[in-house]
Amino acid sequence: MINFKEKIAALLAEAVEGLSAEEIKDMLEIPTDSKMGDYAFPCFKLAKALRKAPPIIAQDIAAKLKEQDLFERVENVNAYVNMFLSRKFFMKELLTAVTAEKENYGSSDVGKNRKVIVEFSSPNIAKPFHIGHIRSTVIGNSIYKIYDFLGYDTVRINHLGDYGTQFGKMIVAYRKWGREEDVTNEPIKTLLGYYVKFHEEAEKDSALEDEARAVFTRLENGEPEEVRLWQWFRDESLKEFNRVYKMLGIEFDSYAGESFYSDKMERIVNMLKEKNLMVESEGAQIVELEQYNMSPALIMKKDGSTLYITRDIAAAVYRKEHYDFYKNLYIVASQQNLHFQQWIKIIELLGYDWAQDCVHIPFGLVSLEEGTMSTRHGRVVFLEEVLNRAVNQTKEIIIEKNVNTDNIDETARQVGIGAVIFQELSNNRIKDYVFSWDKVLNFEGETGPYVQYTHARAASVLRNAGEIAEKALARASGANMDYVIGDSAYELAKLIYRFPEIVVDAAEKYEPSIVTRHIVDIAQSFNKFYHDEHILVDNEEEKTAKIILSFAAKQTIKNGLQLLGMEVPERM
Ligand code: ARG
Repeated sequence: MINFKEKIAALLAEAVEGLSAEEIKDMLEIPTDSKMGDYAFPCFKLAKALRKAPPIIAQDIAAKLKEQDLFERVENVNAYVNMFLSRKFFMKELLTAVTAEKENYGSSDVGKNRKVIVEFSSPNIAKPFHIGHIRSTVIGNSIYKIYDFLGYDTVRINHLGDYGTQFGKMIVAYRKWGREEDVTNEPIKTLLGYYVKFHEEAEKDSALEDEARAVFTRLENGEPEEVRLWQWFRDESLKEFNRVYKMLGIEFDSYAGESFYSDKMERIVNMLKEKNLMVESEGAQIVELEQYNMSPALIMKKDGSTLYITRDIAAAVYRKEHYDFYKNLYIVASQQNLHFQQWIKIIELLGYDWAQDCVHIPFGLVSLEEGTMSTRHGRVVFLEEVLNRAVNQTKEIIIEKNVNTDNIDETARQVGIGAVIFQELSNNRIKDYVFSWDKVLNFEGETGPYVQYTHARAASVLRNAGEIAEKALARASGANMDYVIGDSAYELAKLIYRFPEIVVDAAEKYEPSIVTRHIVDIAQSFNKFYHDEHILVDNEEEKTAKIILSFAAKQTIKNGLQLLGMEVPERM
């Protein structure tokens, strides 16, 4: 498909002295009001070099461009050259491309042979799964999908919090108060209960803390009984996490979590020593970071045990050596900003030039609207409960609205879970936001159900068109585009055209919400087209052209929703 911006920049470069096409491309604007053209070129900056008033320059350029077939019209308004593309030509370019590329529309191979690690979700075993982990899970999955779509060689890692002193506490609590069947039946809740109980009891009896430390040391030394319990806790919890990941349609390539690095930290500690980066402070080993305006990083405790940050340093080095990544991305809450700044700095101090390829992608907090979720568990939220509730509530809405489906449960699942995902990805990730059920499941707002519903509406148009749809799509370039150059058709087409750029922009900014917002725009624009025009008219030529445009809208919405990690029902 023609890149219109580049094409126009090239034409302008011929018409304007002294500026390269590249420079012009950066100056080109897309007016928010389409009455000002599809593209506009401001001439203020040229005044000095050309020794002419900007409006005169605009007039000269407009006169030169008028000859081009690419444009329907070129106007000069004050200092601007406003360019209106030939709608027929544009439509033909776009619709030929989308009908040919289909599920690949918007994808590319810019990432070929470049490995990108996306680390996300990373819950802690034996510690609460915060609502923040939900965000990491959903945002991370979408970033993975976007990079994958752009041809990068992706690796999804779940850096499980499966190591650390809390395991000493878990084991002690289990031995004192635990029951095997509770762990097997409901591992996450049960283990969390042990964790809470341990802390309550330890308030009263500080000897418990010592006991826990001793047990953790036994675990670190590979004592079989402790290792067996640790392994069991981990396996049971993972089973439960996997059930939730399955509901979300999420998979990982690796579950190498913190424990995976337990034998890889000695090397890091030695390197830090050799490079004189580590100093002793009150018996512990730290790296001073004062000159970088950061507090010191604690690498090893007095008793020789290592910490969360030590494992992150070891993990980054391992990943570089094992995967030779182009980028190593971490989708982790903004509360950990300092932690990431610290260890990435330490990687740099160790002399690794790839430190800058490790990127922390932070996100803001979610708070819960009053009464949103059960408070039985305090601040802790069980993702599975949220998802189940979304599905159940959606089912009620579907029945009430008499939604078109032959499988209510399946549709409720796709729409309910999709709604939660969509909501997570609607705002800039760094913004804090309030989770509200009314907003999430509203079929009319800028929500997942709304976009899925619009997609299903387009699907139904194509179904109702019958045989002619297939014929139309097979040779879109031959269609008579005169029937799809009205304003609402054209505005819709322009949004579809921008989709590939939007995907690239979302990848560069690590911001799935850019995709979310764009597909909301496409959905709204399609609904306007659907409202303004009759699609399935008697005139075959007209019907054909409109079907092709409807298909392009449907396909682009679908590709977008899939990049968010959502399912896309054909009927609802
Ligand atoms: N398990 C950690 C937590 O729940 C998140 C891990 C983030 N990733 C990392 N490489 N530090 O807070």
